[in-house]
Amino acid sequence: MPYPHVLLSAAVSLDGYLDDTGPERLLLSSPADFDRVDEVRASADAILVGAGTLRADNPRLLVNAPRRRAARVAAGRPEYPLKVTVSGSGELDPDARFWHTGGDRLLYTTDKGAERARALGLAADVVSLGPDLDWRTLLAHLHDERGVRRLMVEGGGTVHTQLLQQGLADELQLVLAPLLVGDPHAPRLFGPGAYQGGRLRLTETRRIEDVVLMRYEPTAPGAGPLPTAADHRWLALACELAALCPPSRTAFSVGAVIVAADGTELARGHSREGGDPVAHAEEAALAKLGPADPRLASATVYSSLEPCTRRASRPRPCARLILDAGVRRVVTAWREPDTFVAGADGSGLLAAQGVEVVVLEEHEEQAKAPNRHLPGF
Ligand SMILES: NC(=O)c1ccc[n+]([C@@H]2O[C@H](COP(=O)([O-])OP(=O)(O)OC[C@H]3O[C@@H](n4cnc5c(N)ncnc54)[C@H](OP(=O)(O)O)[C@@H]3O)[C@@H](O)[C@H]2O)c1
Ligand SMILES: [Zn+2]
Repeated sequence: MPYPHVLLSAAVSLDGYLDDTGPERLLLSSPADFDRVDEVRASADAILVGAGTLRADNPRLLVNAPRRRAARVAAGRPEYPLKVTVSGSGELDPDARFWHTGGDRLLYTTDKGAERARALGLAADVVSLGPDLDWRTLLAHLHDERGVRRLMVEGGGTVHTQLLQQGLADELQLVLAPLLVGDPHAPRLFGPGAYQGGRLRLTETRRIEDVVLMRYEPTAPGAGPLPTAADHRWLALACELAALCPPSRTAFSVGAVIVAADGTELARGHSREGGDPVAHAEEAALAKLGPADPRLASATVYSSLEPCTRRASRPRPCARLILDAGVRRVVTAWREPDTFVAGADGSGLLAAQGVEVVVLEEHEEQAKAPNRHLPGF
């Protein structure tokens, strides 16, 4: 069932709170960060908040910059994203700003909540999802019935917690603000419960005035996150580099690229590069970076062939070099065949050490092409 891309957005204090318990909303972000949020809103088809946030903050949830609204209209989109809220009770203030500003409004609720909401005469479409509110049904409805492809979720904690725990979040944009709330009754971003998938993947950090933006992608248990268009592009480049290798009868032709979390290329390499008859692609690329390069920890190694686990020509195989460099993600096109080493399993070795290994078989033919002269091909 297709769902929209779900982006969770929140700001928290240093002690992990979303707000204090005072009557006014606690301002956690800085002005430049509010402007960044405005940009993210402008990119979304819909913005969702829980009823708790409506009651606590009375937000408008608009795209504030006129130039961003104009750009939306010029692109054939509605001036404002659809505003969506969820409530089980239907107990909502019909005079809240949410219902009277910006574009279309939509309330997802239960049968019981819908009765209450209709009695209140809310200025919104009211959709009941049955006796209970199920997030998968809600996301499929937004996708299929309202054409939402990109959903920005702006809290609160009850909503964020459910989406992350149910494995429905594609991205988390978290801003850390330099202040402390210190009140145990204040709302937290993520509540207790079972979270799937273990460590999240850090994809970006950015200082914005005195706050820090961190972007994460949750990793699904076992499956790993879906490869992105950028993964395909970089792996295709690694396969092109493989074609540059001087041909050999005793070794594969392989290309590799190392890419930082922010998408910049750090280094590239290919087999037998620079006249070294035994150089491997990943080894050649890693050798161009300092071993303590801080970008390696969040970088991805793209290699046309899975990194090797055993080799006669050097003490450390490429899988070991990758682990020693602190790289946590490898994308490859092709599992190593038994041509030179029986039972090679670079992916298994890397995965056992917690490295995420993604095999994109769509690129296998391209990765094999420069090796056609080898026995068995
Ligand atoms: N710092 C930030 O970035 C940020 C962002 C947003 C919010 N906040 C803060 O977060 C606080 C509000 O958070 P919150 O956790 O109390 O509220 P919330 O997540 O905004 O909304 C919770 C409400 O949504 C409805 N709901 C959620 N999941 C549901 C489900 N599965 N079935 C039925 N109804 C469901 C329920 O409404 P009913 O009670 O009507 O049934 C529930 O009480 C406020 O203090 C606000 O200032 C901070
Ligand atoms: Zn190797």
